[in-house]
Amino acid sequence: MFENLKTQPEDKIMALMSLYLADGREEKIDLGVGVYKNNNGKTPIMNAVQKAASILKDTQKTKSYVGLSGNLSFIDKISKLVLGSVVSKDRIVGVQAPGGTGAFHQILLLIRSMEKDKKVWISSPSWPNHAAILKHLGIKFNSYYYFDDETCEVNFPRMMFDLEKMNSGDVLLLHGCCHNPTGANLSIEHWSELTKFCEKKNILPLIDLAYQGFGDGIDEDVKGVQYMASKLPELCIGVSCSKNFGLYRERVGASLLVVSNKKNCKLAEDNLKSFNRVTFSFPPDYGASLVDIVLGGDDFQNKELIKLWQKELNSMRNGMLKLRNSLSDSLKLSTNSTRFDFIKRHRGMFSLMGLSVDQITKLRSEFGIYMVGDSRINIAGLNKDKIEYFSSSIASVI
Ligand code: LMR
Repeated sequence: MFENLKTQPEDKIMALMSLYLADGREEKIDLGVGVYKNNNGKTPIMNAVQKAASILKDTQKTKSYVGLSGNLSFIDKISKLVLGSVVSKDRIVGVQAPGGTGAFHQILLLIRSMEKDKKVWISSPSWPNHAAILKHLGIKFNSYYYFDDETCEVNFPRMMFDLEKMNSGDVLLLHGCCHNPTGANLSIEHWSELTKFCEKKNILPLIDLAYQGFGDGIDEDVKGVQYMASKLPELCIGVSCSKNFGLYRERVGASLLVVSNKKNCKLAEDNLKSFNRVTFSFPPDYGASLVDIVLGGDDFQNKELIKLWQKELNSMRNGMLKLRNSLSDSLKLSTNSTRFDFIKRHRGMFSLMGLSVDQITKLRSEFGIYMVGDSRINIAGLNKDKIEYFSSSIASVI
C-alpha cells in the first residue's frame, strides 16, 4: 500500500545538512542550517540553561502530565519577555507549543478555523517552511515584495504596493526581527507604517519571532512587535526559544495572542488548547521548564540565572556582529568592491549573499563551502580563522 504515497519535496535546509555531513573534507565550512556556533564551531549548552537543568533535576518531583497549555509560569515569563508591559495581561493568551514551528502551525490552525478564504501574505523570500506549512494546511497564501536584490535592503515602498492588494481579514506574516533568510530588517518607522496599515485595512498580523536577542539586543529586537501590539486590537506571535536559549532539540515555543477582549481571549485559548489536544496532546515540558527557571520561574525564585543568560546571549550577538564587520571588510579587500558592505548592516544569523546557483554550486564542490541554495549564509558558521578562506573563495567564483 505504501507505493501509493507521493514523493515529498525535500526541505532545502535539511537537504544541505545531509550533504555537508557526507563531505569528508577537513576544510569544509557549514553556513547552512540556522544553528549558533561559537568560535570553535560548537553549539554549546548555555551555562544558564545548564544551571537550570541541575535545579530542575533536584526539584522536579513528577513527570506526570501538565496541561494542554503547558507550563503556565513559562508562558507568563515569555509573554513578558516578548511584550513587556505594553498590553494588559487580560488581553494576552499564551499556549505552549513544540518550538517556533509548532507555534506557527498551531496559530495557523486557529486562523484556518476563523473563516474561509483568509489569505496569508508572506515576504518574498521567506523561511521555506512557512510556505510548506501553509500548503500542507491548505491555507491560501500570496507573497509580497520584500528584499531588493540591488540594494540588499528592504524595499518598503514596493512592499506596501503589494500589501495594498490585501483584503480585509487577511493575515500578514512578518518576521519580528532578524529576517530569515535575508538579514534585512524593518525599521521602527516601517513597523509604525505597517501598524497604521493593518488598522486601516483590518489586517491580522502574524509575527514569527525566532531570533529575539540575535539582532540589536533582547529588548531592542521586540520594539517593532511591541509597538504593533500596543496599538492594534489583535495580533498573533509564534515564539521560538530554540536559538536564544540554545534549546533547539527540546522544542520550546509559544503561541501568543493579543486579543481584543476577555470573552474572545477565552474562546481563542480554548481553541488553541483543543488544537494542541488533537495535534500532540501535551506540549513537551522539559525545555519550557528550563526556560522558566532561567527567567526566574515563580517556583524557583532564582534571579541570578536571568542575568547570566542575558550576558551569554549578548556575547553571542556581539560575536556575530564582529564577524559581520570582519567579513564585510575582508570581502571588500578580496573583491576590491563595496558589493558586500550590506553584511555590516544586516542583523541576525543570516544574510542573503546575492550569488547565482552556479556560484553556490562551485563554492560547494571546489571549496567545501555550504550555503543554502538561495545564497543564504549563517554568519555564526564562520570564525575569524575561516573568514579569509571564505572571502577569497567568494572572490574566485564571482
Ligand atoms: C533555519 O532557518 O535554518 C532554522 O530556522 C532551522 C530550520 O528549522 O529550518
